[in-house]
Amino acid sequence: MRAVAVQAFGATPEVVHVPKPTPGPGEVLVKIEYAALNPFDWQVADGLLDGRAPHVFPLVLGLDFAGRVDVVGPGENRFVVGDAVYGQAGRPPVGTGTYAEYVTVPQDSTIAGVPDGLALRAAAALPTAGMTALQILRTGVALEPGDSLLLVGAAGGVGSALTQLAAARDLRVVAVVRGDERERMRALGAVYAIDATEESVREACARAVPGGVDAVIDLVSADTESFDAYASLMRPGGAALSTRGAAPPGKGVNFRLTATGALLDALAAAALAGEVHLPVDAEYPLEKVPEALERNRAGGARGKTLFVP
Ligand SMILES: NC(=O)c1ccc[n+]([C@@H]2O[C@H](COP(=O)([O-])OP(=O)(O)OC[C@H]3O[C@@H](n4cnc5c(N)ncnc54)[C@H](OP(=O)(O)O)[C@@H]3O)[C@@H](O)[C@H]2O)c1
Repeated sequence: MRAVAVQAFGATPEVVHVPKPTPGPGEVLVKIEYAALNPFDWQVADGLLDGRAPHVFPLVLGLDFAGRVDVVGPGENRFVVGDAVYGQAGRPPVGTGTYAEYVTVPQDSTIAGVPDGLALRAAAALPTAGMTALQILRTGVALEPGDSLLLVGAAGGVGSALTQLAAARDLRVVAVVRGDERERMRALGAVYAIDATEESVREACARAVPGGVDAVIDLVSADTESFDAYASLMRPGGAALSTRGAAPPGKGVNFRLTATGALLDALAAAALAGEVHLPVDAEYPLEKVPEALERNRAGGARGKTLFVP
């Protein structure tokens, strides 16, 4: 089957031919209709998990998928051939990803049925970004309706999902973006959008929420200094969270997604209820993966990029 892989950490991804996988006991083979790009994909290609998990090369990239069950492996299984499914294919060894025509997934892992009424294309955009947003709101920061949160990097995948899910919970989102995204962020449910290229985030945040925000969720800062600068915009006793490991010990939460099938079910329900819909900003064939990954690395994401094998 065709797939996109790197031959070594840091190498340019390329289209390769690898054997079509066979589902083992309790697994399903999914024919992928859409794979979605996450920054994690190029981070893994760069060696993010080197030394922390076993890898196979050529390392097929990609985590998120939506498609249909093509073959059910031996033994009991909750899925049948033809089921519409979506999820994350993230089990070790790293390198059996979803930028491919097929992927095998254990039926009890991060896979869920796509309910009637939710298109596969819409479902494909959701897994990592949507589960991250949902879990941050459920367990990452404790917020009550009416509370305010400063969301740094709000225009991308996680940010767009978080803005919508937070607004559905009556939270007041102050979105930090680069560029004039006021209209788009307000349409997603933000009460205020700050263009970090045009104004001081500190001054604009103080104008939006005098006294400091109840929480800061930082999707952007890769170092503690930048994280601290945003965290200082919180009221005393507020909560700060980083998705990039930038929170210094004792000063905030370094969030790590614990992905589950149950979380995917909750996400699909939220999508069906109209609480979250991730805009797709581009759809490409596998040949375009290298340039799409480079573009994402450079920033500027305004929704999700999908690949069609
Ligand atoms: N820890 C976890 O479990 C976990 C889970 C999911 C994601 N993540 C991480 O969280 C980060 C965000 O993920 P994502 O899927 O939302 O990425 P994405 O879709 O690529 O979006 C990132 C967004 O950040 C914006 N941005 C970059 N620098 C900015 C700045 N200085 N100020 C404001 N906005 C800025 C980018 O737009 P502009 O460049 O135009 O500003 C882009 O819209 C990634 O690093 C990802 O790896 C971690």
